[in-house]
Amino acid sequence: MAVDHEIRSARKAIGLPARRVVPRLVRDPLSTLEEINREAAGEITRLHLGAFRPYLVTRPEHIQHILRDNADNYRREGLMWKPLSRLVGEPSGADPAWPLKRRIFQSMLTGKSIEAVTDDMAATIASNVDELGQRVGAGVPVDTADELTRIVYRAILRIFIGDKLSLADADRLGEAIMVATTSSFRSRMLLPFVPHAIPLPGDRAFHRAVQAVDDIVFPIVRETRRLHAEGLETPGRDIVSLMLQARDADGAGLDDQGVRDGVVSLFVAGTETTVTALSWLWVVLAERPDVADTLRDEIDRVVGTDAPGRRHLPELRYTKMVLQELLRIYSVGWIIPRTVVADDVIDGVRLQRGAIVAVSPYLTHRVPDVWPEPEVFDPERFAPGRTRHRFSYLAFGAGPHQCVGSVFFTVEAQLIVASMISQLRPALDGPPDIKPQAGLTLKPRRPIRIVFQPPESR
Ligand code: HEM
Repeated sequence: MAVDHEIRSARKAIGLPARRVVPRLVRDPLSTLEEINREAAGEITRLHLGAFRPYLVTRPEHIQHILRDNADNYRREGLMWKPLSRLVGEPSGADPAWPLKRRIFQSMLTGKSIEAVTDDMAATIASNVDELGQRVGAGVPVDTADELTRIVYRAILRIFIGDKLSLADADRLGEAIMVATTSSFRSRMLLPFVPHAIPLPGDRAFHRAVQAVDDIVFPIVRETRRLHAEGLETPGRDIVSLMLQARDADGAGLDDQGVRDGVVSLFVAGTETTVTALSWLWVVLAERPDVADTLRDEIDRVVGTDAPGRRHLPELRYTKMVLQELLRIYSVGWIIPRTVVADDVIDGVRLQRGAIVAVSPYLTHRVPDVWPEPEVFDPERFAPGRTRHRFSYLAFGAGPHQCVGSVFFTVEAQLIVASMISQLRPALDGPPDIKPQAGLTLKPRRPIRIVFQPPESR
């Protein structure tokens, strides 16, 4: 693609006109952005998409400035978050109650809190993986997104919400969130300048899914508040109770909408990402039988015929490295948008107040001088002792909004992978030529299906 090298107010910023970029961005945002970034050799680039003119930033040292050193000037709010707000409420940078919500999430997700629930989560995962094996015969293809959604939801809900939600509602909530985060979401996020008055395909499915989420979550919030108020229930350690009890420095608590938004934020942030990441694993293992063998050998050696549990985790080192490399190549949080508060200069480039800055882990994870042979899947990059620029690996973001769930993800994912591989020996069904597609997360373009080996050959 020919790049229009047009210096605007910012020195070295490369401007790209709408007529060149929009059609390709809609069709294939990832490769368009990759190409733009390659031609710009990692320099800060500005896309001119009509009224929407985001900067694309991919170099680790620039990202350090945005996400950490001058983070107050780059707020987690603005146009690109708008489509998500109907589902999860205001983005965290614009939500005055966010520090309170983040504190609650962090208290549930510290190493110690996770340790306390790991064996319980492991048992839930093992029994759901077992149920999957019973339900689906060997050699029958299943959709990873459907099955992993079920496993992840049941694990996470048991830990975070206890018995406040029935299994059937847990499954319905998982499905509704999956629909909401696909449907029209992708086009609305990539083309945030299209007014909401103009309908886009998938809008109706989005609104129906959000309504389904409301119908499940609001009654739980209201009922729990009533039970607490009437002294009929002692507040527990579940997310709804913790949010209802929480008070900020002025003693103010959250209203029903605030609690609902916090609960849904945690589920959206914690499930969609995990399900998508773990779906890609089977594509990687099909492409790389050597990695698959090493992974299976480790799981067989460490877990054997046991059900995987907390005691196995420290020994599942290669499994953890595979997950880290998986999130480098398939950075499910592929874009981290921020809004510039006041004009700023990064490396000689002026960034204008009010503009959107798009940090892209997907692109940063492919910077060749930071990640040699970036397209090669190599878990050894994460072997102990290997070092790199802190801001070159952004799977979980960085700075004040860094993911609160990264440790939880690693534990949960190690358990799911160990359970699935030891119990079912899954393999990809069909060829591994499945390309990612950018939406809220980095989804596969077509469903990823797996099959299980017959019990006698496991
Ligand atoms: C594959 C798994 C995951 C990935 C790739 C991932 C990625 C990310 C990224 C990139 C951010 C930063 C967004 C930004 O700065 O704008 C983030 C934030 C967040 N993540 Fe995760 N995440 C994962 C799993 C989880 C889990 C399991 C939970 C909770 C149980 C969680 C909860 C959150 C929350 C609440 C935030 C918002 C933090 C804030 O705005 O202050 N995530 N995540």
